[in-house]
Amino acid sequence: MNGLAAPASAATTANGAGLFSDDLISPEVASALPSNYKIRALRQADYHAGFLDCLRVLTTVGDISEDQFAERFAWIKKQDGSYYVLVIEDGEGKVVGTGALIAERKFIHNLGLVGHIEDIAVAKDQQGKKLGLRLIQALDFIAEKVGCYKTILDCSESNEGFYIKCGFKKAGLEMAHYY
Ligand code: ACO
Repeated sequence: MNGLAAPASAATTANGAGLFSDDLISPEVASALPSNYKIRALRQADYHAGFLDCLRVLTTVGDISEDQFAERFAWIKKQDGSYYVLVIEDGEGKVVGTGALIAERKFIHNLGLVGHIEDIAVAKDQQGKKLGLRLIQALDFIAEKVGCYKTILDCSESNEGFYIKCGFKKAGLEMAHYY
């Protein structure tokens, strides 16, 4: 793979273009979801489908206007093949889970790509239904398809058990500067 995202399909565009092609959605994960649930690329219209509320289970999100959201969405979409934000919607079209993969392009490892898993969130009343696991499996599928040689993430100790269940191994130590 060359690491470039395929353009969004016509089906996705009908409801507002998704960030990336449906071809990057794992069919196995899609069929393992509870009935009527869907996994797909984030769309701009998800501003009205509870995407930001879903992220609020993770951390502070702030008061983001629709224009600000649209501007950030457009910027991310232009990063062609670097950002993959997934959502899971329930039978009513409400966003109940989300997760992101950022494919970092390196010089090392022969111009290798490293996947960074970020901002995994499952709505409080939907936790424990394997949606978190499905998000990680779906992001792993994308990472492999776009050519990442590994995927890494940072998490709190309280989530270590979840990521171990998802197949991750402890590797290294997280450090931070806050600005
Ligand atoms: N510690 C240990 N095990 C866990 C935890 C945990 N915190 N959470 C889930 N598990 C286990 C489950 O019991 C299940 O085990 P099983 O297969 O034996 O039944 C397995 O992990 C899969 O669990 P899911 O049902 O898929 O988990 P869920 O859908 O509830 O999602 C998540 C887990 C994403 C951590 C969710 O609780 C959440 O959104 N929490 C708040 C936000 C958050 O902390 N996100 C992660 C931030 S780190 C990052 O983004 C890189």
